[in-house]
Amino acid sequence: MKKIAVILFLAMGIIISGCSDVKREQGSIYMPDMAYSRAFETYAARDSTLFTTDLSHTDDKIFYNNMPVAGTMARGEEMPFPLTKDAAGDTTNYVASKLVQNPLPLLNETQMKEAERLYLINCGICHGPKLNGNGPLYKGGDGPYPAKPAQFVGDAKYEQMPEGQMYYSIMYGKNLMGSYASQLNRDQRWMVIHYIKAKQAEAKGGTTPAKDSSATVKK
Ligand code: HEC
Repeated sequence: MKKIAVILFLAMGIIISGCSDVKREQGSIYMPDMAYSRAFETYAARDSTLFTTDLSHTDDKIFYNNMPVAGTMARGEEMPFPLTKDAAGDTTNYVASKLVQNPLPLLNETQMKEAERLYLINCGICHGPKLNGNGPLYKGGDGPYPAKPAQFVGDAKYEQMPEGQMYYSIMYGKNLMGSYASQLNRDQRWMVIHYIKAKQAEAKGGTTPAKDSSATVKK
């Protein structure tokens, strides 16, 4: 009986002392990869203690620079746009972009629906669901957005704008319009351009050129 009392007393002592001094730090970590995630989270700040963008690094950090491996391309992707962004004040590549052709064949009805969806999500708020340059963000100048968006339907300048040049501006931005390169992949950018061109043709009374059901678009 006395023995049990002593054991109980000791056990209580251990439990109480265990509770009193709360340890918030782990002791030794056997599997650091499990304790600290090395996964790279989209939009998360890069943790410079884990990642490096310097390929020649000698420490045990992980090399990661957000870029695909040089010379590779994601499956189903279009070829990269051949022109780089002009330096400020230069328009050489912007002018040259007029010659770049849309690599996608004309869209079939399903693809056109998808292109419309992408347009309405990403562009309609400024350029207008009717492509008249008067989306809810601009509202004829009363909206919060200060610059007049391009009027795709009803303005000859944009009706004649070559598809490659539209792509250049979507990819790199134009004045107050930011780049949409991170919102739309290459296929989607060219699809939206097909959509704009089809709507322009429609408004001119022509039939939509985009009814070729044999066309295929990846993804
Ligand atoms: C936040 C508002 C806004 C959004 C969203 C927006 N744009 Fe624009 N866009 C503008 C403005 C403003 C201009 C006029 C820029 C200028 O010429 O100063 C413009 C111009 C353009 C032009 C003409 C560029 C040129 O070279 O003159 C194209 C093409 C274009 N936008 C396509 C798009 C597409 C496609 C989307 C959707 C992926 C989109 N924009 C989304 C505001 C917007």
